[in-house]
Amino acid sequence: MRLLIKNIKELIQVESAPVAYKAGKEMRNMHTVKHAWLLIQDDKIADFGGMNSPLPAADQTIDATGKMVFPCFCDSHTHIIYKGSREIEYIDKIRGLSYEEIAKRGGGILNTALRMHEATEEELYRDAWLRLEEMKAHGTGAVEIKSGYGLSTEDELKMLRVIKQLKADSALTVKANFLGAHAVPANYKGRQSEYVDLIVNEMIPKVAEEKLADFIDVFCDRGFFTVDDTDRILEAGTRYGLIPKIHANELDYSGGIQIGVKHHALSVDHLECTGDAEIEALLHSRTMPTLLPGAAFFINMPYAPARKMINAGLPVAMASDFNPGTCPSGNMQLILSMGCIKFRMLPEEAITATTINTAYAMNVSDSLGSIAKGKTANVFITKPIPTYEYMPYSFGDNKVETVILNGKIQ
Ligand code: NIG
Ligand code: FE
Repeated sequence: MRLLIKNIKELIQVESAPVAYKAGKEMRNMHTVKHAWLLIQDDKIADFGGMNSPLPAADQTIDATGKMVFPCFCDSHTHIIYKGSREIEYIDKIRGLSYEEIAKRGGGILNTALRMHEATEEELYRDAWLRLEEMKAHGTGAVEIKSGYGLSTEDELKMLRVIKQLKADSALTVKANFLGAHAVPANYKGRQSEYVDLIVNEMIPKVAEEKLADFIDVFCDRGFFTVDDTDRILEAGTRYGLIPKIHANELDYSGGIQIGVKHHALSVDHLECTGDAEIEALLHSRTMPTLLPGAAFFINMPYAPARKMINAGLPVAMASDFNPGTCPSGNMQLILSMGCIKFRMLPEEAITATTINTAYAMNVSDSLGSIAKGKTANVFITKPIPTYEYMPYSFGDNKVETVILNGKIQ
């Protein structure tokens, strides 16, 4: 099956020599083809070119006059398996309580963990499926999904089995991340190291045995898990073949970035508290600094120093962090806008941060994240838009018209 998209106003983020990710000044070096065509054969990108070159034969043709084609967003950090919402805490936040104060009162992650315990796999699957469909409609083609609201062996496995089923059924590319160390559960209060023992000795072996996760995560931050806890958990996870991708430096200069780099984490995420020492550690690594501006926006926290990081030569990725507590949205177009407005990223840098760099942060940049021959055909066609800069500029509405995943129109 050959699908041709012709008369494309501009084809965005094309690569003739694909790279794993883009860092520093390279992030703004985004290639495009104006007045272009794109040929998809089965599930792959077969070729592309300018409308002044001969059009290839196809079984089906889409006329994209006035519209642009982008690689789908890759959302490398989400927590979309949950039951119920947390707008009561949202009101507490408006009244002035901090995220940590809410968590200390048993709200936050522990609140969602209670509901997780009650929920069936079918309910969780149904809710997460709807979230995935909504994300897809906004141009996302690949999603990393974390556990972390179970906080017991049984409930963590329940979450991961739901992710496994979504992986099998969804047209989106799904990766699973085991986040048993998201918070210390209520029944382990005051016995944090025993909970870490449980993760290391029981949860990780079971997750590995059932092949339920690609990655392992720890919320390494003030009031949650320490650097030593993180060291133990990542060491055990790596031994079982799980690749580290962790939450770090959201609430403090916690040492999370450095411990992530030490364990060759694929990404360290959040990074609101990043100074010179953290940048230095990252510069000598292949770890992707991943920023989550939706969470900083929603809990009204200082933003990560994205500009400083890019100017220092680092790559930066941006994901949604879709979760009920700190970012109840998986709209990556909004993340693009936040990147430009709050991080002062140029539109090209923000597009790179949400496509090829997030693809790297979920280990799929060899097949996703850009328009390149031989990559998987995960692209979206926009509504008619004047320029690609219009994508972050016009915030709040959906500018995606058609989504194509694995070569199939959705
Ligand atoms: O990435 N920071 C830790 N974990 C999530 C929040 C989870 C929640 O509050 O439910 C985050 O922001
Ligand atoms: Fe998160």
